[in-house]
Amino acid sequence: METEQTRMMQPPTQSPTQAQWIDICALDDLPVLGARVVERKVGGNIAIFRNASDGVFALLDRCPHKGGPLSQGIVFGERVACPLHNWSIGLVDGIVAPPDEGCTTAFAVRVDAGRVYLDGQQVRSPGQAVAPDVPTNVMAA
Ligand code: FES
Repeated sequence: METEQTRMMQPPTQSPTQAQWIDICALDDLPVLGARVVERKVGGNIAIFRNASDGVFALLDRCPHKGGPLSQGIVFGERVACPLHNWSIGLVDGIVAPPDEGCTTAFAVRVDAGRVYLDGQQVRSPGQAVAPDVPTNVMAA
């Protein structure tokens, strides 16, 4: 279901000068405390979130509980509450807060000069998770 918060985005384009990073959208295209969805043919869609501090994060748009669309959840701090059963998922690492358990894939995000980028290699590699020590978000200036 498409909502104002989760308007589907066109498939990303790659700039010749951004060999690894895929230009997704302008930061201003992401609603504060909302999300947009990048569709993928394989591996599931990616939800890109913006929190109240202009932090930008990307997770697989699939809750580890029963597959709820995280892009339609409620963003608070660096977490999103799943719209189906209210599990709390970390926007940085995709890890579910206790007492629930589980994890969804987090994607590397970069914000540069008002543009939002995803790691092209990771986007094209379904199921590839971000190592826990790799930063997955960059705060907008
Ligand atoms: S599907 Fe997300 S909490 Fe149940």
